[in-house]
Amino acid sequence: MYQYQLHQQISFPILKHKIDVAGKDNLFYSRFLANSSEISDLYYSLYKNHPKGSEAFTELLETITSAYALRSEALKQKDEEKEEMENWFLTNQLAGMSLYVDRFCGDLKSLNSKLDYFKKLGVNFLHLMPLFESPEGESDGGYAVSNFRKVDPRFGNLADLQSVQEKMSLEGMFLMFDIVLNHTSFRHEWAERAKKGEKKYQDFFYMYDDRSLPNWFDETMPEIFPETAPGSFTYVPECNKWVMSVFHNYQWDLNYSNPDVFVTMIDTIFFYANLGVDILRIDAPAFIWKQLGTSCQNLPEAHTLLRLIKQCVQVAAPGVALLGEAIVAPKEIMKYFGTDRYLAKECDFAYNATQMALQWDALATGDTRVMLAAQQEILQKPYGCSWITYTRCHDDIGLGYDDSMIAAAGFNAYDHRRYLKEYYSGALQNSPASGALFSVNPKTQDARISGSLASLCGLEKAIRKNDLAQIEISIQKISLMQAQSFFIGGLPIIFYGDELGYTNDYSYLSDPGKSYDNRWMHRPMIDWEKEKKIDSPETVESKVFNVTKRMIEIRKKIIAFGDYKNLTWLTPYNIHVAGFIRSFGEQKIYCLFNYSDKASYITWYAFKNHGAKSNKLYDHWTGITHTVGGDHEYLIIPPYGFSIMEVV
Ligand code: GLC
Repeated sequence: MYQYQLHQQISFPILKHKIDVAGKDNLFYSRFLANSSEISDLYYSLYKNHPKGSEAFTELLETITSAYALRSEALKQKDEEKEEMENWFLTNQLAGMSLYVDRFCGDLKSLNSKLDYFKKLGVNFLHLMPLFESPEGESDGGYAVSNFRKVDPRFGNLADLQSVQEKMSLEGMFLMFDIVLNHTSFRHEWAERAKKGEKKYQDFFYMYDDRSLPNWFDETMPEIFPETAPGSFTYVPECNKWVMSVFHNYQWDLNYSNPDVFVTMIDTIFFYANLGVDILRIDAPAFIWKQLGTSCQNLPEAHTLLRLIKQCVQVAAPGVALLGEAIVAPKEIMKYFGTDRYLAKECDFAYNATQMALQWDALATGDTRVMLAAQQEILQKPYGCSWITYTRCHDDIGLGYDDSMIAAAGFNAYDHRRYLKEYYSGALQNSPASGALFSVNPKTQDARISGSLASLCGLEKAIRKNDLAQIEISIQKISLMQAQSFFIGGLPIIFYGDELGYTNDYSYLSDPGKSYDNRWMHRPMIDWEKEKKIDSPETVESKVFNVTKRMIEIRKKIIAFGDYKNLTWLTPYNIHVAGFIRSFGEQKIYCLFNYSDKASYITWYAFKNHGAKSNKLYDHWTGITHTVGGDHEYLIIPPYGFSIMEVV
């Protein structure tokens, strides 16, 4: 829509930054004009009545233009290439790993020398866990940022980060890191100035003179870390005020009802975009808008903010995709892809946290019915958006799927969750898993689960008992879990160490900065001596590494594993087996995953029912070609086995 006033306003920063509207910057200018009405509408729907609303809007237009002006030619070139590909990130060619630079290899400089390792595995996408300055001991793994623009000296400096980015880019690799949007560290300059009484910075946070409003908020806000950080407010003795701190008391929530906060943070987003990030992980977006009397999660204004961010990023740095880290109820997760006229215009990615948790559910119960019951919801993802698929990440596993999904499978939700918690925390006698409950809420008995992929799959106990059969079963379970997340569609991200079968690391217990947070048990310190075992085929490390590597190879070979809304769930006629078809044009791949500790039988009718025209199926995993038999004959999948069968 043509808007005279708005387009006049845009022309100021355009002139100031000498944007060549008719020449080399023409595409930028077109994008700016095309998105400006949305930017203005979204912005003013939040800030119309704010006294600084229009002043900050002028700053926003300036920020967008200067971000583009500062963007390197190399990144602009990459933007264009990505735009030509349209939704570059849906491809089957990406395989990721998430890692803490210090725990993986020491620092950013050393990371450069590890690129060959990723190449060997097939990983070409890295999520580097928070790198920006964060106070030691009160850091939440880097998610309490005290300076958004300074790389923490533990990792190196900005130049080191840039050098990693450039080297990765040359190698055809992609980079993701976080913008911690919801809060800062209590040591951030804004927080320090707020403590000293500067009104401007007190207004960057939710600060109150007494407990009356905080008490009111607390009535409806769920606690995130009830054991270690109960309530959502912290007393600040320096200024005798209460500040909102939803996560830990050293993480202060930014107040996005103040447009200065929004403009400052979008500038930070552009700073990261211009460092060459390909996907920006927006940390905890569900929390970014607060409203008295609500849970202060998933509010409509939080979505408006994300849509606004998306529109702005698309103008200045269109090659940057956004991942909304919303680990919330299944229905709520879906909304981060946008709704109604903003469908597929909000976050490009979300974590498939529902599927991840449901795989753990199936592994513990041997029953895939709850997983199936959830798919109706998960399949609502619009074309053009994608999932991060995973089995483990640095966080806990939340069993946040709906009670109705559990009930649909015939279970009582409370008992079912209790069973899962006892199974994975090891409280259940004979459970093969070693893990722990995280953030138990004494009032509701809600709890999440910590533990590494390998330990939760039984490897830790099996190794301790030197039980060779159980070791093999654990490896099979690890493979099954990874396989489903690699082939279900989306960008698979391996959590570092899982490709080598790392079990829990309990050393965090002797570190006072970590001992209160058992998520550290599954954030290993990589021992590069152990990595050498990859070359000895009889070792666990070699077996797990090669399984992972082979899965990546298969994924990259088959275009149908790209995320093109090309997934159909099968009725496998066996509750132990989850199955789906991935298709692309003529290509059709049947993927089946047996969550039982026994062999499972699938009638060939299951395939015919879904229109398998050919009677030959080639299993890319086993190398076996099957002939589709009669309806009374069966495909047999071994315990915790899986099949990736292409119609040939
Ligand atoms: C995200 C991070 C988590 C962190 C929290 C607060 O959920 O993944 O590790 O504790 O945000 O920043």
